Amino acid sequence: MADGATQKTVTLLVDGKEISLPVMSGSVGPDVIDIRKLYAQTGMFTYDPGFTSTASCSSTITYIDGDKGELLYRGYPIDQLAEKSHYLEVCYLLLYGDLPTAAQLEDFENRVTRHTMLHEQILNFFRGFRRDAHPMAVVCGVVGALSAFYHDSTDITDPWHREVASLRMIAKLPTICAWAYKYSIGQPFVYPRNDLDYATNFLHMCFATPCENYIVDPIFTRAMDRIFTLHADHEQNASTSTVRLAGSSEANPFACIAAGVACLWGPAHGGANEACLRMLREIGTVDRIPEYIDKAKDKNDPFRLMGFGHRVYKNFDPRAKVMKESADEVLGLLGVENNPTLQVAKELEKIALEDPYFIERKLYPNVDFYSGIILDAMGFPTSMFTAIFALSRTVGWIAQWKEMIEDPEGKIGRPRQLFVGAPQRDYIDVEKR
Ligand code: SDX
Repeated sequence: MADGATQKTVTLLVDGKEISLPVMSGSVGPDVIDIRKLYAQTGMFTYDPGFTSTASCSSTITYIDGDKGELLYRGYPIDQLAEKSHYLEVCYLLLYGDLPTAAQLEDFENRVTRHTMLHEQILNFFRGFRRDAHPMAVVCGVVGALSAFYHDSTDITDPWHREVASLRMIAKLPTICAWAYKYSIGQPFVYPRNDLDYATNFLHMCFATPCENYIVDPIFTRAMDRIFTLHADHEQNASTSTVRLAGSSEANPFACIAAGVACLWGPAHGGANEACLRMLREIGTVDRIPEYIDKAKDKNDPFRLMGFGHRVYKNFDPRAKVMKESADEVLGLLGVENNPTLQVAKELEKIALEDPYFIERKLYPNVDFYSGIILDAMGFPTSMFTAIFALSRTVGWIAQWKEMIEDPEGKIGRPRQLFVGAPQRDYIDVEKR
């Protein structure tokens, strides 16, 4: 892994003593202060809840410039990939670092296609859930259970095991997510088909039934593939950091991805697309938007505008721009461009972007703002939105996990703390309390 070493240093003055700390530079983006020796030199920790100013690792996979609203996968801008590439090619890029040749891509797609089935015994797992279980509960449980079935790809020290586990995860998540959906609506599972491309196969497994032939609309395939691509990876976000931390203990890859699924579920993270659509529906009509804008500004009201704001982007989320185009395309196809939810979304975006509260805090629509509208128009229930996000992000989690495992500097993650609890005190017998 690139060590970023430079001749630059910064100096701390601690109790009159000068402490010199090395500065590291990446290929692009902010320099970092190497504090690995800080505790040994000063007896002090740094303090950074939420890691707003902390680089947890060095990486070559995804770069974000929050101020410019830039997102690069292995150096390629997300808008170019969304326009010119497709999800499995993006998976190859994220996993192996470069765009594939035609032969490499064909081989990769064939290998993924032939791992899309689940061990037949896993069907019993689905049947153990209540029908009204949230799909994310099912996906989290089944992904974790994969380690009980695929023992031939859980040795993290074996490069071949890592490769096979990666392909299995990318290949099987669509089947797991589609079957979680089918189970929730009481319809029979539809098996993957090797003659369909990745996005079409997923939509076919979700919406086909054994009773008749089901043809996926190419516009839906394009929109689905684009949603997969836009969500594929995003630097060291909460769920990716969870996967890296779980992986640092040398847990098997399936368990690590299940941990990522669990973290993504939260409404502050991947659950925001589901929460955003529920919010748009609750607002209902354009005339009620000001009431909700006021609620979002009210410090005494926990309500936040779902789909707005981002820890890193202090400009437009570049994914939201592409997602907005897809929303117009899909809803135009369906002849529902007057969809009330879309009207509320567009007016809410317009009002919020003109409001000083949002301007001062640089709160812009993020990737979750429009994705829910597209998925809703395609016929997915809101409960499936985050599961689709998890499906898309699996390749990012796996690529980051592999990079961490293969990093010779890797070690188990173990943050410290600022302890503000009770100093040592002696036990008091119950009769004396
Ligand atoms: C994703 O990290 C990633 O990369 C994530 C992700 C990915 O691809 O992995 O991009 C996917 O998770 C996108 C984000 C989806 N979440 C939401 O849409 C939920 C709504 N957004 C907020 O919860 C919030 O914006 C966060 C969690 C996304 C970011 O929060 P931060 O960076 O911790 O910012 P903050 O909470 O400190 O807010 C700063 C100010 C505060 O006001 P003040 O205290 O300064 O007065 O902005 C306000 C906040 O109250 N604020 C909002 C707001 N988001 C922040 N006010 C109203 N509505 C909002 N949505």
